This record gives sequence, structure tokens and C-alpha cells, in this order.
Amino acid sequence: MKTYLVTGGAGFIGANFVLYMLDRYDDVRIINLDKLTYAGNLENLTAVEKNPNYRFVQADICDKEAVSALFREEEIDYVVNFAAESHVDRSIADPQIFVKTNVMGTVNLLQCAKEAWQVGDDTYRDGVKYLQVSTDEVYGTLGETGYFMETTPLDPHSPYSSSKASADLFVKAFADTYKFPVNITRCSNNYGPYQFPEKLIPLIMNNTLHHKPLPVYGDGMQVRDWLYVEDHCKAIDMVIRSGVLGEVYNVGGHNERPNIFIVKTIISYIKEHVDPEVGEHLITYVTDRKGHDRRYGIDPTKIKDALGWYPETTFEVGIKKTLKWYLEHKDWVEHVTSGAYQSYYQKMYEGK
Ligand code: NAD
Ligand code: DAU
Repeated sequence: MKTYLVTGGAGFIGANFVLYMLDRYDDVRIINLDKLTYAGNLENLTAVEKNPNYRFVQADICDKEAVSALFREEEIDYVVNFAAESHVDRSIADPQIFVKTNVMGTVNLLQCAKEAWQVGDDTYRDGVKYLQVSTDEVYGTLGETGYFMETTPLDPHSPYSSSKASADLFVKAFADTYKFPVNITRCSNNYGPYQFPEKLIPLIMNNTLHHKPLPVYGDGMQVRDWLYVEDHCKAIDMVIRSGVLGEVYNVGGHNERPNIFIVKTIISYIKEHVDPEVGEHLITYVTDRKGHDRRYGIDPTKIKDALGWYPETTFEVGIKKTLKWYLEHKDWVEHVTSGAYQSYYQKMYEGK
């Protein structure tokens, strides 16, 4: 039995990872530590809450006492750090919480894991590993050609990506200074079930269903490289099991699409399957995001060649599965968008 400390496991990707792992393996125990911010939701985890190999702990990754206590209570083999403030627009409005959670929280986790796992000078219990879930945004932006490789210099632009790049550098510093066993994964844009509706795909879906304006930033020709969330979970599972210590792995499936294409795809799906009244008249071009990165594109050659990873879900299949999931989970969308999210939305999109 291997015990994973998964942080941020009540959010979008973290919850998908917990479900993915407990669905596939009987010899995996998951301790899910999550602060339950606006983005964390225990409803995402009802399928596993009674599983004897699962434990949920509400805590902040910045809380040294709480994290150290968990390392004393459980024999943790792996840390997988998903916990973060993850939304670029929020980071532009208020950067400080991004520094606290994404940078200081990561350093606290590293420190607690190091203290728990250390058996001698720069030596650690056999088989342990810390995996930092990072993002392609740390590389900055691409022009019309080329791809991000693991060797691409870090060049973050937003407060969010700067905080994630800083966290990556601390993970590297722990490996370089203390020979601490780590991996970093840098993935492109995920989509799929349980994504909070502040992000492009679920936001456009929700607005289309409600005949609300569809906010497209700038000219809508920014390109993102979309990956179905389960394929990201598979990559993380493989890197934990087989990744070479100290290495960074880029994760992406060559699914580059301009934002306007995504928006039009969602409109036509809803028009065909739900409501013939919706249409492209809902598209509303709005002021561009400050410092908006133009294009992301991942070169996944390393993880493919080294670990045999490949994406299983094409964009055409994945987007239909995702839109179907949101249609079947309107209650979930209602729950997570009530309360504090309403005031965020009004401030961000309606100037209130
Ligand atoms: P999310 O915002 O949906 O979820 C974040 C989770 O972290 C929530 O459950 C939240 O409650 C928890 N959290 C926040 N602050 C915390 C704290 N101080 N202590 C404990 N828990 C805390 O994010 P996501 O989209 O699922 O992203 C997860 C991770 O993957 C992040 O590190 C993000 O940078 C990275 N990532 C995301 C994408 C993407 O497309 N969404 C792509 C690549 C990498
Ligand atoms: O690339 C990985 C990153 O992808 C992750 O590290 C981040 O955590 C995740 O939030 C995501 O960042 P993006 O900024 O790319 O995702 P978002 O869904 O916010 O926006 C996707 C694109 O759509 C981006 O170019 C901005 C644009 N957009 C977004 C929103 C919310 C719009 O045009 N209108 C919108 O209302």
C-alpha cells in the first residue's frame, strides 16, 4: 500500500486525480488535504468519501502544524501538490494570496515533507517523492511557431504564473540543495468535469445556457493547448511511479485551439442538443486581459519517450463528454456559482 498526500484534492484537477486513483488501484491510500476555498468542493468527492482508503482533512498548506501532524499520523510515501490559487484573472486583481498559497504554501509542504522523510544528511526514506503540479504558463508566451520544452527558460507574465514559477524554483532548490526527491510536471490547459465556472469552457457553457453575453477577451485569437483532465491525471500517476528524480515533465496533447473556436464549438453544441435559440449573437468581445499570453503549446516528447504517456481522449470526444457532464450536473453548477462567485462575476464582467 502506498500513501499519497494529495493537496488541493477538492478542486478541479485534484478531485479528478483522487477519483482516478481510487477507481484504478486497491493498493493506494489517499489523504486529501484541502482548505476548501471557493474553488474546493466536497461534492466533487462523494463517490469516494466512504472508501476505507480515503481520508479528507480540511487544512491550509501554509499551516506547518497541521501538515506536520499529518506526516506524524500517516506514513506518507508521496506528496502531490495541486493546492493553489489557480485563476489568472483573480491574480491580476489581487496577487498577494497567490504568493501566500502558491509560493509560501509550497515551501511549507517541502519543508514538512523534508523533516518527515529525512533519515540522514541529504538522505531520505526509500521510495518517497514530492511532485509539484505546475503549468505551461511558467514559460510565458509563444509566437506563431514553436513549442514549450522542459529546457525553455521560465518567463512568466501574470502574478499567477509568476507565483507558480517561483514555487517551481523552490522545488528545484530543495532538489539541488538538499538532494530532496522531486518531480515537476508542467501541463497545458485542462478541461473536463468539476472545473470551476470562472474558467473559459464552463463559463461559456453556463452563460450560453442562460442566454448571457459570452465574454471573449481581445480578438479571441489567443491559443491554448487543451488536454482532457483524465489524461493529465494519467501523466501524474506515471511520473510518480516512474519519473526520474529531479526531472521536469511537460504534459500536453497537441490540441491547440484559438479561444473563439472553443466558444463557437460550445454554442453549436448547445444549439444542437439543448436550445435552438442560442447563437453567435451572444459573443461579446470585451477588453483584453492585462498581459495576456498569446499562445501556449506543449512539446510532450519527453514524457512520451521516457514514460510512454500519450493522451487517450481527443478534443472532439473530450469536449462532448465535458459539455454532457455539465448538462447532467446543473445542480453542481448552481451550488458552486451561488454566494461569493456572484460578486466576483459582477465585478469582473459587469463592472459592478
Ligand atoms: P482549482 O482552483 O480548481 O483548485 C484548487 C484547490 O486548491 C481547491 O480545492 C482549493 O480549495 C485548494 N486550495 C487553495 N488554496 C489552498 C491552501 N492554502 N491550502 C489547501 N488547499 C488550498 O485548481 P485546478 O484547476 O484544479 O488546478 C490544480 C493545480 O494544477 C494548480 O496547482 C494549478 O496551478 C495546476 N494546473 C492547472 C491547470 C488547469 O488548466 N486548470 C493546468 C496546469 C496546471
Ligand atoms: O495553461 C494552464 C493554465 O490554464 C493553468 O495553469 C491555469 O490554472 C488555468 O486557469 C488556465 O489558465 P488560462 O488563463 O489559460 O485559463 P482561462 O480559462 O482563464 O482562460 C483561457 C483563455 O480564454 C485565455 O486566453 C483567456 C480567455 N478567456 C477567459 C475567460 C475566463 C476569455 O476570453 N474570456 C473569459 O471570460
